[in-house]
Amino acid sequence: MAARSREKSKGGPKPRVAVLMGSKSDWESMRIAVEVLESLGVACDVRVISAHRTPQRHHDYVTAAEAQGIQVFICGAGFAAHLAGVTAALTPLPVLGVPLDGSALQGLDALLATVQMPGGIPVATFGIGRAGAKNAGLFAAAILSARDKKLRKALDAYREKQTADVPETPFGGAPLAGR
Ligand code: RP5
Repeated sequence: MAARSREKSKGGPKPRVAVLMGSKSDWESMRIAVEVLESLGVACDVRVISAHRTPQRHHDYVTAAEAQGIQVFICGAGFAAHLAGVTAALTPLPVLGVPLDGSALQGLDALLATVQMPGGIPVATFGIGRAGAKNAGLFAAAILSARDKKLRKALDAYREKQTADVPETPFGGAPLAGR
């Protein structure tokens, strides 16, 4: 993943969204946030950073990120998920939290840990798992699109296609009376 970050910053557009996750094991869920952002033309800096296991790496990364061009953080973590909250404690930039479902409590622990922030340090918390990661990616794009007309058009096109892709019936074809 470090290689991915380097590649992005070398050739393509500068990463505007940092996608952080507490463990490599979170990648299967968090990759959908990156995929949706990349499909809209938004480059991401993707890192494994744990509030618990790598606190110094976390502090160093978050405090330097804005100067590197990061405008939004997406933080995915499971168990007692403190990654989004501690990130929000270190930066006033928008922090989107994605609770992940690897624990015996199937993400309910991470959901409560992420959503129940004390007043003053906001984290925008999404649903558990892959749907939450996807929506966090789309929400990050929505934030950036307020000042980026090209991205706004890409987001509009994404939603139009999503609408067009919904079939009228579950079996394909036109609705049949009495079916
Ligand atoms: C959390 O603990 C991580 O975000 C991950 O969801 C969970 C388990 O991590 P591993 O034990 O799989 O590395 O901090």
